[in-house]
Amino acid sequence: MARVAKRKAAIAGVLMGMALSGPAAAQVAASVTLARDTTGSPAERAAAMLAQMTQAEKLTLLEGYFGTDFAPANFTMPPAAREGSAGYVPGIPRLGIPPQWQTDAGLGVASQGGAKQKRAATALPSGPATAATFDPELAYAGGRMIGREARAYGFNVMLGGAVNLLREPRNGRNFEYAGEDPLLAGAIVGAEIAGVQSNRVISTVKHYALNDQETDRGTGNFIIDEAAFRMSDLLTFELAIERGHPGSAMCAYNLVNGLHACESPFLLTDVLRRDWGWHGYVMSDWGAAHSTAASANAGLDQESGFGLQSDAWFGPDKLTAALAKGELDPARIDLMAGRILAAMFAHGLIDDPVTGTGAIDVAANQAVAQADAEAGIVLLKNDGNRLPIAAGAKRIAVIGGHADKGVISGGGSSQVYPDGENAVPGLKPTGWPGPVVFNPSSPLDALRKLLPGTRIDYASGDDPAAAAKLARGADLVIVFGTQWASESIDVPLHLDGAQDALIDTVAAANRNTVVVLQTGGPVLMPWAGKVPAIVEAWYPGRMGGAAIANILTGKINPSGHLPMTFPRSLDQLPYPGEPRKKEATYSEGATVGYKWFDAKGLSPQFPFGHGLSYTRFTYSDLAVTRTDAGVVATLTVTNSGERAGADAVQLYVSAPPDSGWEAPKRLAGFAKVVLWPGHSTRVSIAVDPRLLSVWDTSVPGWSRVPGGYTFSAAHSSRDLGKGVSIQLPAERLSPQWRP
Ligand code: GLC
Repeated sequence: MARVAKRKAAIAGVLMGMALSGPAAAQVAASVTLARDTTGSPAERAAAMLAQMTQAEKLTLLEGYFGTDFAPANFTMPPAAREGSAGYVPGIPRLGIPPQWQTDAGLGVASQGGAKQKRAATALPSGPATAATFDPELAYAGGRMIGREARAYGFNVMLGGAVNLLREPRNGRNFEYAGEDPLLAGAIVGAEIAGVQSNRVISTVKHYALNDQETDRGTGNFIIDEAAFRMSDLLTFELAIERGHPGSAMCAYNLVNGLHACESPFLLTDVLRRDWGWHGYVMSDWGAAHSTAASANAGLDQESGFGLQSDAWFGPDKLTAALAKGELDPARIDLMAGRILAAMFAHGLIDDPVTGTGAIDVAANQAVAQADAEAGIVLLKNDGNRLPIAAGAKRIAVIGGHADKGVISGGGSSQVYPDGENAVPGLKPTGWPGPVVFNPSSPLDALRKLLPGTRIDYASGDDPAAAAKLARGADLVIVFGTQWASESIDVPLHLDGAQDALIDTVAAANRNTVVVLQTGGPVLMPWAGKVPAIVEAWYPGRMGGAAIANILTGKINPSGHLPMTFPRSLDQLPYPGEPRKKEATYSEGATVGYKWFDAKGLSPQFPFGHGLSYTRFTYSDLAVTRTDAGVVATLTVTNSGERAGADAVQLYVSAPPDSGWEAPKRLAGFAKVVLWPGHSTRVSIAVDPRLLSVWDTSVPGWSRVPGGYTFSAAHSSRDLGKGVSIQLPAERLSPQWRP
């Protein structure tokens, strides 16, 4: 009891702004004991801790080091950092506060390109692959796996949770994100964040906000109408935060409506804290802070990475000077440090500190990556059921994509390095944002293992004539097409090099040609009409070769569905020429992806939500009811084919004519089901009321007009079943509304 009473006194002291008294020894003893005393909420424990801290100790928490020596900018990492990592914030040993060891990122434990020793880690498939599963449980499992590896390596902050909307199909970082729809992206990344944090480490939601392209990311001023912003990029972050409860958020490099994201009171205080009630701390992206008092007063809590080696905005000198000039209030310092401490308490960093000595179960982790990849591979086209590969296939030609060595991955800070070696070393760029890394999981080797009785030959594709000759002699041709994408660049909407021409040549040599794509996002397919089958495997991760082979042979029935629209041509995009530069007005607003294609009446190459199976699913008895808890849709899903399989059931909704919606319909919900042939299940999908509303700045808040709302079960955004309409009354929800 005495301990609890003491704690309450400590808290009371802090809350009353009193300083605790007592001899230094007792304070030292008291403070370390305090860190281990787990009574009280994270906020209360943080307040009690603050009362023990000197000003210098509070400032320690607000500035981070880069976790790697970085010669060009003369950065030298602190000895206590984990070499080759993203970041490090010193701890306060006398108080039992550990350092914050920060690692990238959302696809696995990354190593910086300049790392002396890369950490071998298990790469998940890319963000779009996990989004294509339409399965938050798989996303959670992937997050749990990479968070476990991060903890084993001694990291307690993972910079994953990247959830920028696929607004620009050429964005070089689309491979890190989860596609074009706020609900799907928010649900998938929210689950990933929760999975990471199940290991008692902090995960981060990023890059907040509107960092939807890499062109001019550091200086670009991206302009968007607030209502559209609230119903697109911000709704995506809102849904991810509600589902994942990230301990931290990373503000982005770019400006939003004229203010740096890390200096925006609207983003960092009004939306994140006042409207969404989020209790974490905001860290800057690496070099994204541009001021001391303006950033701190806007809601930035910690400057990341480059800080202490250069003219640090949140270094002790600048913060102390700002306090002395009255630009910063001491209470603001307590607020900033308190948020960081509360997150550290909330996510176990203090109570269950990392040791860096954890074991990694490589086989189990690779199985998680493979299951994610297999569920995310999308069968886009399969005329004449060319796939799965017939058991009796005698000769198969495999061509291109370094398929004899491995599978491609994306570049930049999220780069995960596999156990073993880069399967295809030396590809340019070898320096930042490279190197180009292929995971050592060869589709060719995997196919040969699964088809021992089949002759399978390989040609690199470097010599198209030789490839065509090999193709002519085969029963079936599998040609791989790759597109390398990366942080810090945007990429053309096509395969790299002369691969389109290679596919043309091979398809002309043998009409039984299957194309397997490994891309960071959508690509144009000028050859789509010349081949009977197309598979999108994304960046399939550490076990990608095995996953691709299992899908092609039918060992696994494909169940992925597109989390993004594949355009037929550039002129279908809101901004056909090239990614917007400098001062970019996103005039399309919330009309992103399939919403744009619907609103403009455009026919895509492949629509959002599209994905074929080796079996067939049918939907029936759709019913939509309004309950006290909101609108719920139920329907029966039946596997009407011959094989077991999984299906991503989609529910779309259309509003009355005067609704003010940004597009004819929205994704209102989804569910992933697994069924044996001939079996059925009843699915229930609850609809978030914000998806039936528009953001009305005059309220402000969410506003639904009364009238008939039509719900449809669908296999894709362009393959909807018969709609069911219900009358819904007007409804208003405050910005603080939570499910
Ligand atoms: C990078 C990225 C960010 C990453 C950070 C640390 O510039 O924008 O996603 O987490 O720096 O590497």
